[in-house]
Amino acid sequence: MNAIARALEADWYTDPRQLERERERLFRRAWQFAGHVSQLEGPGDYFAFELHGRSLFCLRGADGEVRTFYNVCMHRAHRLVEGSGSKRTLVCPYHAWSYELDGRLKRAPGSENVPGFDGSKVCLTPARTEIVGGFIFVNLDLAAASMGEWYPGLAEGLAEFLPDLERLRPTYTREVEERCNWKISVENYSECYHCRLNHPTFASGVVDAEAYDIVPEGHVLRHTTTCVALDALSYTVDPESNARALDYSSWFLWPTFSFQVYPGNVLNTYSWQATDHRTTRVVRQWFSVDGVESDTLYRLAEQDLTTTVAEDIRLVESVQRGLESGGYRPGPLIIDPRGGVRSEHSIRALHRWLEEAMGPAAA
Ligand code: FES
Ligand SMILES: [Fe+2]
Repeated sequence: MNAIARALEADWYTDPRQLERERERLFRRAWQFAGHVSQLEGPGDYFAFELHGRSLFCLRGADGEVRTFYNVCMHRAHRLVEGSGSKRTLVCPYHAWSYELDGRLKRAPGSENVPGFDGSKVCLTPARTEIVGGFIFVNLDLAAASMGEWYPGLAEGLAEFLPDLERLRPTYTREVEERCNWKISVENYSECYHCRLNHPTFASGVVDAEAYDIVPEGHVLRHTTTCVALDALSYTVDPESNARALDYSSWFLWPTFSFQVYPGNVLNTYSWQATDHRTTRVVRQWFSVDGVESDTLYRLAEQDLTTTVAEDIRLVESVQRGLESGGYRPGPLIIDPRGGVRSEHSIRALHRWLEEAMGPAAA
């Protein structure tokens, strides 16, 4: 008989050293969301961001290519850029070394007087960059497998559900801080066993919770269901607009991002960032064609924040407290070999991916 799969020991979520190990072995080797190409319209446009204690920036080159670099000057390590903006060359504020938009050193004042100085050997440190449907992802591991290998079927699936994908722009952003370890929030997102009891609006006004299923594919958890009866839907959808107008789909990309398409082909995303071992920032973004604002999308973003997101915060923060209680012993997971909404096979998939990165004895 197969051994029953169990939840993880509390230490995985409560020990600050665990997050340090995850930063080293998981986050610095995984694909993570950085931003959207609409933030980099023209050559020289850039935005800086933090990824697990690393300062980076994305930059569009003169050749139109989007690249990502560590935000550090190769002279004596001053930070190169702040926030976002546009530059023709990157000039370090410390001693005015300047760099081309592809990261090569352009000029180091005084270097002409240094015998043997070879500026052609100096270049900003790059990170891997890939763009899927306008979404920029980075990986600090230059040898990492491509997103196509990590997330098979993603680009095709998004194109199928989002006929206007290339024209979508972030329109509303909602951010919350959860007082829990990032894995609690991700695990909670990754099962709908808790939906009917805890998400009345989502489970009766957006999707059919009974049909909800989650299937691991590569390092994706693919969520699917259909929409509730149209007259119960909390917003209006034109069922004739395309073949996927009445479906719900989500692609959770291990470890910290999810594309989610609500009925009506409404794209919204989740991005998780571990602030520390017991605090997680969750950013929700809602997208529309050309970024056009609308009452429907605004109300959907607000409805989600005050129902599903608020309901989940109560759950995940209670779990963090429970894991810190000293009385928790890992319980068995409910794994139905047929899958379905009452099965936690997706949690087991998350734990396997975690162990694959960390090794089983990490905690
Ligand atoms: S540290 Fe950047 S120019 Fe000196
Ligand atoms: Fe939930």
